Amino acid sequence: MKKCFITLGLLLASLSYAQKNTEQKIDALLQKMTLEEKVGQLNQYTNDANPTGPLVINPNKEKEIKEGKLGSMLNVMGADRTRKYQELAMQSRMKIPLLFGLDVIHGYKITFPLPLAEAASWDLPLIEQSARIAATEAAASGVHWTFAPMVDIARDPRWGRVMEGAGEDTFLGSKIAYARVKGFQGNQLGDVTSVMACAKHFVGYGAAVGGRDYNSVDMSNRMLWETYLPPFKATVDAGVATFMNSFNDLNGIPATANAYLQRDILKGKWKFDGFIVSDWSSINEMIAHGYAKDSKDAAAKALLAGNDMDMESSAYRNYLVELVREGKVPETVVDDAVRRILRKKFELGLFDNPYKYCDLKRQEKALNNLEHAKVAREMAAKSIVLLKNEQNILPLSKDLKTIAFIGPMVKPKRNNHGFWAVDLKEVDSSYIVSQWEGLERKVGKNTKLLYAKGCDIEGNNRSGFEEAIAVAKQSDVVIVSIGERHDMSGEAKSRSNIHLPGIQEEFIQELQKTGKPIVILINAGRPLIFNWIADNMPTIVYTWWLGSEAGNAIADILFGDYNPSGKLPMTFPRDEGQIPLYYNHFSTGRPSKDDNDVVYKSTYIDLPSSPKFAFGYGLSYTTFSYTDLKLSSDKMKSNEQLSISFTLTNSGKYMGEEVVQLYLKDRFGSVVRPVKELKGFQKVKLNPGEQKTITFTIDNELLSFYNDQLQWISEPGTFDIMIGSSSQDIRLQSSFELMPN
Ligand code: BGC
Repeated sequence: MKKCFITLGLLLASLSYAQKNTEQKIDALLQKMTLEEKVGQLNQYTNDANPTGPLVINPNKEKEIKEGKLGSMLNVMGADRTRKYQELAMQSRMKIPLLFGLDVIHGYKITFPLPLAEAASWDLPLIEQSARIAATEAAASGVHWTFAPMVDIARDPRWGRVMEGAGEDTFLGSKIAYARVKGFQGNQLGDVTSVMACAKHFVGYGAAVGGRDYNSVDMSNRMLWETYLPPFKATVDAGVATFMNSFNDLNGIPATANAYLQRDILKGKWKFDGFIVSDWSSINEMIAHGYAKDSKDAAAKALLAGNDMDMESSAYRNYLVELVREGKVPETVVDDAVRRILRKKFELGLFDNPYKYCDLKRQEKALNNLEHAKVAREMAAKSIVLLKNEQNILPLSKDLKTIAFIGPMVKPKRNNHGFWAVDLKEVDSSYIVSQWEGLERKVGKNTKLLYAKGCDIEGNNRSGFEEAIAVAKQSDVVIVSIGERHDMSGEAKSRSNIHLPGIQEEFIQELQKTGKPIVILINAGRPLIFNWIADNMPTIVYTWWLGSEAGNAIADILFGDYNPSGKLPMTFPRDEGQIPLYYNHFSTGRPSKDDNDVVYKSTYIDLPSSPKFAFGYGLSYTTFSYTDLKLSSDKMKSNEQLSISFTLTNSGKYMGEEVVQLYLKDRFGSVVRPVKELKGFQKVKLNPGEQKTITFTIDNELLSFYNDQLQWISEPGTFDIMIGSSSQDIRLQSSFELMPN
């Protein structure tokens, strides 16, 4: 034990020695750098070949790199291309290496499911592993830094970027945020399989008014602290290297120049020692916001408020030197921003070897690793959510004679990658198993597969209906794959109408008339609305966009080689008119008991208030029973803990995994509290008939909230315990008292 402490002590001492050493090296560099060179470190440009935003400037990048006017580039990838640019940086006077950043959102060469889909797995170790693999591939391809994870809480499925986050819940979102940062950054920065993570978009971006991308955000500070900030704090706890601010204004101040967020909270209260990059040109966009007079004013406001690096707007490059010389921006503020960026370059080991991540052999190996595809397949299968299986049509038998696989999603490949996949021009990105190929590989030689497209995703062309109906009639089972195109959810892809697009629902109505058993697969980057299908079709599988291994994973689910275990990380509304709709809302003074209880109640007169599918919902081919709830006590004090345990039994016929969910409700408080809040979950695997005792431990942290003075406190009183299989399917209930100390 003593030896352990000594080793730990030595480790800490050597760490702080290394840190001190780095700071001294930065001091020495800062002393030698001209003001122009310092400002250069704060400047980031995209590679022109594949921009991820509107190009507004066209500088001579190669010349500027050699002059030391650039600190970082985005959208450059590949061991050879990054080396080419790094060689230019090595020709600059100070020889400070460039940082290469890229949106590695859900995989690099092997793509994983959309982040929202991965969140549906509730499988934290696997989510971490998915990020680890993405990092391994990207780092081997010269990338130092991913602009991920997006940890914005999103309660509005009209917002196209819901696909990029972990959904609506702060507790689940914080756990996933932590896991993703750990996955991307690995053991430590500087390992050649690690990339810097970037927590984005700080903050409130997911709460854009009307779900319209880039729109304003107006929210109380209590809502900010309780709902939107915790996932960001989780990334700081995980050691995240960088932050990106957001396009929106928050309560009237653009996040890019928001000193309260960046200086007071992030760098102050949370002691974040990394750097903050703006979003794409968001510094200059403050002119359009009406917050900055011109680009010079925008540069001053952003830097003073704590934004360290300027992505793509050139405002720093054009005006910071002048601003410092005019005394409008202290040079010490510039120095601090430069220090933060240099610190990360040191931690990555780039000063020791600027070409550390540009190794063609390592790239070749990492981008052709079959293990990566295996994990992607498992992750994809675990991300799928079974919404309905009323007649137990699923799982399908492998002995079926004829299967019709119909729909616009069956054969195209690219869609399966989903939005924000790295469209690699330099690196081959063709590895995608189509849904058709997945099924073909799965069934035996004696099963005949028939195909018809039937209809398009959009438009009203019915000419394919007839052929599809004929094909369906010849089959034992019909599988129909429909949904959104991959680029209908993503950045700048907000939709006012989130119903299933085109005439796909009408197409299903026609197929239903054949009387054949039909399995519906819905591919999408967000919760969609498909009420007729939900009410009339017995078998519905929500597949999201699953990445490279989509076809194999879907086939695994259809034939029961993996028993579905996904649970929705976002509420599915019945109608756009209900949005925003989320499970952990406050009660009103006139809550309705159910959808029939409407007189003088907080309801709509033309629509039930309940969701179509609730947060946390998802079925399995087996069933689980929840029994024997026990509390270690019915009272606790804030310095004590209480444990809650129960028995989970696999009461069905298939081995399966259940995500057991613990919700708490603080019955009353000095501010109103949500009707329930997720406070724990476990993913448990059981064989048929197997039982397990599940335990959750309650401590004061789980009972705390922000009061109206923004203090994080708990208050004595009664707490309801709800344990179940979704936020609506509560199987066990009890309560306990939090006693005064
Ligand atoms: C997005 C960011 C992204 C950046 C760079 C912006 O438009 O909002 O999330 O990281 O572009 O591609």
